[in-house]
Amino acid sequence: MSKTRSDSEPMPDRSGGGSAPIPAGTIDHVAVAVPDLDAAMRLYAAAFGARVTDPVDVPEQGIRIAYAELANARVELMQPTRPDSPVAKFLERNPKGGIHHFCMTTGDIPAAAEAAAAQGLRLVSAPVRGHHGRQLFFLHPGDTIGALVEIEEPE
Ligand code: CO
Repeated sequence: MSKTRSDSEPMPDRSGGGSAPIPAGTIDHVAVAVPDLDAAMRLYAAAFGARVTDPVDVPEQGIRIAYAELANARVELMQPTRPDSPVAKFLERNPKGGIHHFCMTTGDIPAAAEAAAAQGLRLVSAPVRGHHGRQLFFLHPGDTIGALVEIEEPE
């Protein structure tokens, strides 16, 4: 019979030996890979009454995106614009689309990158400036229980 976890039994420590945590703020967005951006924009506007931003091309990532804006966070809709885009590869595995990543804000990107590395969380790449001008990086999903996590400066 398995024992029930109680308050006196803390969760196992998976942090890197007491190193400082990533200074995480709020959820900025959840990103959904979509095969048809126009259809996705119409769905979010009609089904949820969300304000949907005009689409923007992000050539560095080979995607075209629009945001469905909610009161506390956004849904980032991403359609690949070229076959070698990472989002195109994702759609090969999930042809109907699906949740691709979620994004947490941090007030200090260098500190967040340093804290991630100190805890043994791999960065997919060093921090870069996004299409919006804010610094961001992604954590390797193999180190974050299968979810691709983006860490980004707040707006
Ligand atoms: Co994102």
